[in-house]
Amino acid sequence: MSQIEAKLQKALNKVLVPGIMRSLVQMNLVRSAELNEGKAKVTLASTAIPAQYHKLLKDQATAAVSKLSRVEEVTVDLVEARPKELNQIEKIIAVMSGKGGVGKSLVASLLATSFAREGKDIGILDADITGPSIPKMFGLNARPSGSETGILPILSRLGIEIMSMNLFLPSEDEAVIWRGPLLSKAITQFWEEVLWGKLDCLIIDLPPGTGDAPLTVLQTIPITGVIDVFTPQELTEMIVKKAVRMAQKMNVRVLGVVENMSYLVLPETGKKLEVFGRSKGEEMAKASGAPLLGKLPLDPELARLCDEGRIEMYSSDAVSELFANVVAALDGKNGE
Ligand SMILES: Nc1ncnc2c1ncn2[C@@H]1O[C@H](COP(=O)(O)OP(=O)(O)O)[C@@H](O)[C@H]1O
Ligand SMILES: [Mg+2]
Repeated sequence: MSQIEAKLQKALNKVLVPGIMRSLVQMNLVRSAELNEGKAKVTLASTAIPAQYHKLLKDQATAAVSKLSRVEEVTVDLVEARPKELNQIEKIIAVMSGKGGVGKSLVASLLATSFAREGKDIGILDADITGPSIPKMFGLNARPSGSETGILPILSRLGIEIMSMNLFLPSEDEAVIWRGPLLSKAITQFWEEVLWGKLDCLIIDLPPGTGDAPLTVLQTIPITGVIDVFTPQELTEMIVKKAVRMAQKMNVRVLGVVENMSYLVLPETGKKLEVFGRSKGEEMAKASGAPLLGKLPLDPELARLCDEGRIEMYSSDAVSELFANVVAALDGKNGE
């Protein structure tokens, strides 16, 4: 990138996309920006931006570029592009589990929060279409905006981009009763028609189990690696093994396994009580041929923050350790 182009990008990075508090550059809407003999020429994609905001966007981009020295004239052109052409996502983690209710969404949300705190650009694609719980954990209920060309995600308090079926339902508790093909279509749309822009990492909350819906995700989205969540309650290794086998069959790397609700810390003594039985962490890691990334305790504060839609407020040593191991696994460490 030339120095002049960098200067133009910097100016455009101050212009926010209507409907989402992220900039033109972050959403990767700047297609070109050049300056020749005082004449600046900027081309922006209008993807996912409702028509009524097009003029505003052009005016703001013009104003931002006009402020630069040596710029005498600015033209801003809008072009159409599909979100798929614009999305630039470095890493994709899919969180899966053999069954529901084990804390899959929770792990997805806590990892996203950890990344966001480090200043990373993060998104969560809630692919659990029939049981979408991500927006509730983040306390979000706004409706996504968009246009014919694409949909914009909703931003969490920490700036995590979120897309979920839950955001489109008339009432939060409304159930989605859809059949296989429609489910797959919804997930594919979240992947292809949502403008995620530039992200360091997208975390996908998969539907539980090893049915068609998680399979579709593994088939259609270029996943960097999967994380399998389980609890010590699970009776056999069979469930975890089956999930891991599915990933392996699709040639997707297993980053590791996470044991949730592993223990409870007794407030009086600080002693760890294994409420649901002895930890299966090592066993599961062995069964799946991937490292144990972490063990999360059953924590009443965490349950409360989930209910209050404030999961981003939670932090603990166990989460920090899990996060560090996930980052190491993504970087190909962990002894591999
Ligand atoms: N470690 C934990 N400590 C406290 N509550 C938890 C924990 N894990 C899960 N929960 C509670 O269980 C609920 C279900 O978890 P969730 O992540 O939605 O499961 P899944 O996505 O696997 O169906 C959460 O909303 C939360 O209230
Ligand atoms: Mg869930």
